[in-house]
Amino acid sequence: MALKDWLTDRLGFGAAPLGNMFRDIPEDEALATVEAAWNDGIRYYDNAPFYGAGLAELRMGEALSGKPRGDYVISTKVGRVILDELEDISARDQGEKAGVFAHGRANKVVNDYGYDATLRSIEGSLQRLKTDRIEIVFVHDLARDFWGDQWIARFEEARTGAFRALDRLRDEGTIKAWGLGVNLCEPIETLFDLKEAHPDASLLAGRYTLLDHSRALQRVMPAAAERGIGIVVGGPYSSGALVGGPNFEYAPATPAILDKVARIKAIADRHGVSMKAAGLQFSLANPAVAAVIPGASRPGRIAEDRAALNEKIPGDFWSELRAAGLVDPAAPLPAG
Ligand SMILES: NC(=O)c1ccc[n+]([C@@H]2O[C@H](COP(=O)([O-])OP(=O)(O)OC[C@H]3O[C@@H](n4cnc5c(N)ncnc54)[C@H](OP(=O)(O)O)[C@@H]3O)[C@@H](O)[C@H]2O)c1
Repeated sequence: MALKDWLTDRLGFGAAPLGNMFRDIPEDEALATVEAAWNDGIRYYDNAPFYGAGLAELRMGEALSGKPRGDYVISTKVGRVILDELEDISARDQGEKAGVFAHGRANKVVNDYGYDATLRSIEGSLQRLKTDRIEIVFVHDLARDFWGDQWIARFEEARTGAFRALDRLRDEGTIKAWGLGVNLCEPIETLFDLKEAHPDASLLAGRYTLLDHSRALQRVMPAAAERGIGIVVGGPYSSGALVGGPNFEYAPATPAILDKVARIKAIADRHGVSMKAAGLQFSLANPAVAAVIPGASRPGRIAEDRAALNEKIPGDFWSELRAAGLVDPAAPLPAG
């Protein structure tokens, strides 16, 4: 069954901030954020061992432990195994994003896309998440933004390792679906072209947002739709910049980005449209998109996200964005 058909709601919860992304989030605030998502009716939760070296999974596992397990869907990721041994966080080999989880746990993070590491990673996630199953597993950050030119060698490691392990786990019924969880389009395009791999889903972060969508629109989305593969849109606010936050893609937003945001916002203000509504509804308008998963570290964000999803946006707003060249002419737009 297609991912879109077994997710009960198109709004999910992105747990990266729960790993103390950018700031040291108090435990009660983190747990209250998941509780707010649950009370709102959100039933799809995305996580990863990488988010604070297990911290986001531990917090989510705690917050969801009393809920009926059959009522919600979890995705987590493989590619980094979290050890009990501690390490110097600042010395981690995580490329330009190394500082994002500086407030996370100090547990050693081992980069490994191999077969055995994939199985070990899932065992660790099951324990931290306090569950006996994980519905969706994404192979994490198998892309140039983390690995530079080595990403191709890493992809090959995953092709003969993680992909085969995940095929096996799906055949055995331990997981229901797998794919990639990445910030760039190319790895998903490459995965879809493989003859031997049979993914069901992929998480594409930051590449199908109001601020940046052309390549995914032309390449990933049609290929996903043709193959019946569900796309989960991560980072719909481009790390917050679209909706008034300071960061774009895990770094302070540049003047060029802030200028584009201001141009979109001027049109949104004129039509009485919130930037959150514009961002979420734009991402969801593409038929290949199964769900959108904004990240939140404060309980109040959940009601904002839900209201944004339900907001009525006039068609004239989208026409004006298109006329101003602020959305790709070929992008599907929500019905006004
Ligand atoms: N490679 C991958 O697989 C990958 C990569 C990226 C993301 N993802 C997934 O996608 C999820 C979402 O991505 P994301 O969390 O990076 O980014 P996002 O959803 O684009 O943006 C989340 C950020 O927006 C901020 N924000 C929300 N409402 C705001 C408001 N009204 N004013 C100011 N700031 C506001 C949040 O701040 P607060 O923290 O203050 O609430 C948070 O920092 C992740 O949690 C993760 O699950 C996966």
